[in-house]
Amino acid sequence: MSLPPGPSELPIVQAMKFGADPYGFLEQCSERFGDSFTLQLPFDPPRVVTSNPALVRQIFALKAEDYEQAQQAFPANIGERSLLFLDGEEHKRDRQLLMPPLHGERLRSYALGIQEITAREAKRLRPGDTLEVHELLQTITLDVVLQCIFGMRLGAESEQVREPLVRWLNGVMQPLTFFAASALKSTRVRAFLDGVASRRLNSSRPALLPWERWADAKNEVIAVLRSKVEHARTHGTEGREDVLALLATARYEDGTSMEIDGIVDELVTLLIGGHETTANTLTWTLAHLLANRPAHQRVLDEIHRVFGGGPVVATRAQELVYTEAAIKEAMRLTPIAPAVGRHLRRPVELGDWSLPPGTIVWPCVALAHRRADSWPNPEQYRPERFLEDSSPSTNTFFPFGGGRRTCIGVAFATFEMRIVLAELLRRLDLTLAEGAKVEGEFRGITIAPKKEFRVKVGAVRNG
Ligand code: HEM
Repeated sequence: MSLPPGPSELPIVQAMKFGADPYGFLEQCSERFGDSFTLQLPFDPPRVVTSNPALVRQIFALKAEDYEQAQQAFPANIGERSLLFLDGEEHKRDRQLLMPPLHGERLRSYALGIQEITAREAKRLRPGDTLEVHELLQTITLDVVLQCIFGMRLGAESEQVREPLVRWLNGVMQPLTFFAASALKSTRVRAFLDGVASRRLNSSRPALLPWERWADAKNEVIAVLRSKVEHARTHGTEGREDVLALLATARYEDGTSMEIDGIVDELVTLLIGGHETTANTLTWTLAHLLANRPAHQRVLDEIHRVFGGGPVVATRAQELVYTEAAIKEAMRLTPIAPAVGRHLRRPVELGDWSLPPGTIVWPCVALAHRRADSWPNPEQYRPERFLEDSSPSTNTFFPFGGGRRTCIGVAFATFEMRIVLAELLRRLDLTLAEGAKVEGEFRGITIAPKKEFRVKVGAVRNG
């Protein structure tokens, strides 16, 4: 058999059901068809979804030449040299260069910045305020990227790039462009947007069409990033630890350095990969904690025991083991990436099926994380399970994907989330606001709690 069975509804109906309730729709399909099934979304090749641990392992072990990522339905023209679109040797080379700044001892140098940004945002709040948590966390995680990754001083310098960046990304990452990417082929949509951007560089006419405005915004962002990379190359980067500075001076194994355009594309990729993902995961973590009083209290006790009421510091952040488990448990129950995709370039035998080239295989994070044979009482939010088993198998727990394309920011995100969560909770007493709903909605790439998720600020501790 070539493909596992799946829902027979029209592709548009399947897409609408997925968009309205992503976790629920996947669960319903799995109840009807078992742990592997095929979805058919509009204009897409068939998508084989699986949560079967043996098949997940097989997919993560696929060779680089078995699939190609350049075709993934990602409409944003973040640059074709982005890691997200590279395949084969080029992908491997850029990954090797991007990994060191996001790992190991380097992370410690980012801790103070992350703590200060979080404290600054928490200090703006007053007892009695009602807060849209996702917005707060987005502000924090964007500033973390601007400072730690782009090496910008927060204030006048970062503001120069923040506004056009938001304008560009809000423009190119919306349902309309995702739809166009599926209907017309994503590489064409990106090429169109890039064509507009390069024509706008030589035009003095004001932007009239929406994509001309997005193009102007992109050109502003790229100009700032290019000049920062050029400055780092000509004036040196002594004493700097940000990712931009490290990439500007890094060299491939053969001794050559990365082209400036390549560095700029990768910096934007890190922003795309590292900002919304982290904000959404933290929002989900707060949603679960505020709905689970004992777990919430245990996190507060741990933060108090480790930092004694003072600011969160990097040297002791790894002692926050329960807090870490609380974040992992949120990623288990409500992973922000419902699945990870591989676009097959060659025929692949997967279990009983012979998948033709062009098929998308979709190891399903959301379903794998709720399998009763891997996770007893899967519906229950219970961080303790990660203390009892601190390193679950990578084919039953994979919020960061797997294999040669595993998320490059795992260590950075884990480090950042621990500090942000601890610093926020030590400063603010938070409870769910009246009528707060905690349901997920699909936002193009990730699943976030709906905007109705609000919390109430009780006591505020400064200092
Ligand atoms: C909680 C936070 C995060 C989650 C849940 C997350 C999740 C993911 C997932 C599921 C993938 C796809 C992996 C695959 O296809 O197997 C991915 C890829 C990626 N992520 Fe993350 N991510 C997070 C944070 C970050 C951060 C902080 C950065 C950078 C600073 C980052 C950069 C990337 C990049 C560049 C890729 C593409 C890797 C490649 O294609 O080789 N992510 N992430």
